[in-house]
Amino acid sequence: PRKIIIDTDPGQDDAVAILLALASPAEIEVLGITAVAGNVPLELTARNARIVCELAGRPDIPVHAGCDRPLARPLVTAEHVHGRSGLDGPDLPDPTMPLQDTHAVDFIIDTLRAEPEGSVTLCPLGPLTNVATALARAPDIAPRIAEIVLMGGAYFEVGNITPTAEFNIYVDPEAAAQVFAAGVPITVMPLDVTHKALVTRPRNDAFRTLGTAVGHAVAEMTDFFERFDREKYGSLGAPLHDPCVTAYLVAPDIFTGRHINVEIETMSDLTLGMTVADWWRVTERAPNATFMGDLDADRFFALLTERLGRLPLT
Ligand code: BDR
Ligand code: CA
Repeated sequence: PRKIIIDTDPGQDDAVAILLALASPAEIEVLGITAVAGNVPLELTARNARIVCELAGRPDIPVHAGCDRPLARPLVTAEHVHGRSGLDGPDLPDPTMPLQDTHAVDFIIDTLRAEPEGSVTLCPLGPLTNVATALARAPDIAPRIAEIVLMGGAYFEVGNITPTAEFNIYVDPEAAAQVFAAGVPITVMPLDVTHKALVTRPRNDAFRTLGTAVGHAVAEMTDFFERFDREKYGSLGAPLHDPCVTAYLVAPDIFTGRHINVEIETMSDLTLGMTVADWWRVTERAPNATFMGDLDADRFFALLTERLGRLPLT
């Protein structure tokens, strides 16, 4: 299996991404989960990450809290999408598993130094503050990272928090700029892909019909989470942004994209956090990321539903 660290701000869609990873031990080994401030403040994301591990029957997964605010700006949160807890919808118990003492940034650095070079993939599902801080503090880890597979950005779909910016990149554009400039192989799941991973009514029913605690919780999460997109965009259901990252690790051929140059806007107030993706290769700028453009949604949901049905693993 691919060894990964999930860096996350749960978030209902983050929760589903984590569940998919934990349900796929043949393909993915989760070394740890690092929480970052994003959808809701750090205290809640660190709490929600542990709730999700316990839901999956994996209280043994180390969960570390990281940065509580972006590198250079005040935190922007998204309770309007995810609810006050960040994980509104299902009624889940408070976590009893501990939060680790080590800061998330130290966990990322120590793990990359301890594991064989090129064996650990980072999976950021929120603002890139923890990952950028780790790279800045310990530049020696960059060549040790196998790949960064992240959810963030947009090209044709432009923005969901401003007209031109996607939430994860917008919240910490300086961090995103540093990560995209780090020389590490990057695979990006932008809104162009994730807005095609919609939990329609039959797909929600399929989660519920699993008849398990996980299936029920995921159905409740996506029921809650879809309100925003339905009202705002007339969407047919909740977009499962972050699960595209972990689905890619299990079945990369579900996704198609292009290896192109992606730069992050950090200067303009108007377009702050925009991912300027050279999709048509109209510049000479060197490609630095594989920017996905499409997915096979039916295969994605078939995989996700089947995997969720395995939890808790026995
Ligand atoms: C991203 O922002 C968050 O609200 C979601 O969890 C996802 O990571 C989508 O723009
Ligand atoms: Ca997220």
